[in-house]
Amino acid sequence: RDDPTFFVRMAEQQSPQYLWIGCSDSRVTANDVLGLDPGAVFVQRNIANIAHSNDMNLLAVLEFAIDILKVRHVIVCGHYGCGGIRRALGEDRSALVDHWLQPVVTLYRRHRAVFDALPDENARVDHMCELNVEMQVRRVASIPTVENAWARGQMLDLHGWIYGMHDGLLRDLGPTISSMEQRDALPAAEDRVGRPVDASTGIRRHAIAAF
Ligand code: CO
Repeated sequence: RDDPTFFVRMAEQQSPQYLWIGCSDSRVTANDVLGLDPGAVFVQRNIANIAHSNDMNLLAVLEFAIDILKVRHVIVCGHYGCGGIRRALGEDRSALVDHWLQPVVTLYRRHRAVFDALPDENARVDHMCELNVEMQVRRVASIPTVENAWARGQMLDLHGWIYGMHDGLLRDLGPTISSMEQRDALPAAEDRVGRPVDASTGIRRHAIAAF
């Protein structure tokens, strides 16, 4: 680090603006994808970036990030080609991770015919990666910590993004949710089943600059 103030700044209390909920995949590290220094983003990662309402880790991270750090944005970020999502679309149910992936498996089974009509396995996986992000943003929006922040007037925006490690780009899938009213007006994520995002649109690199 050439910046002589860097470690002085880092030794002070952190004050990140962003909470990142992302996949454990070793290639999708929040600071690198966002192009941000240490100190800028609080991070929670798990397999396939799923928000379970009984996940004590997620709940504690959300509470600390929102109530104490007062982050302004919560970003659920998935990635194309996710191995967890690929497994959820397969047949093997022999590992603990299959319990973890259950919401994705359920969504897949309900719409199996639509997924089967997509061109190949990669297309099915990538489409589910998108739908999963959209579903998890909605799930985060229903967690009481988030609702309570909105109820007391705290500014908090939820975002749904997906990262393409094949092109290094972030795509804003939405939904962006800033209130309970917006959340309640949204259609279910399932409404987009069978309609993958047009990869040529909505691209932004190091999307933080757009805030
Ligand atoms: Co993944």
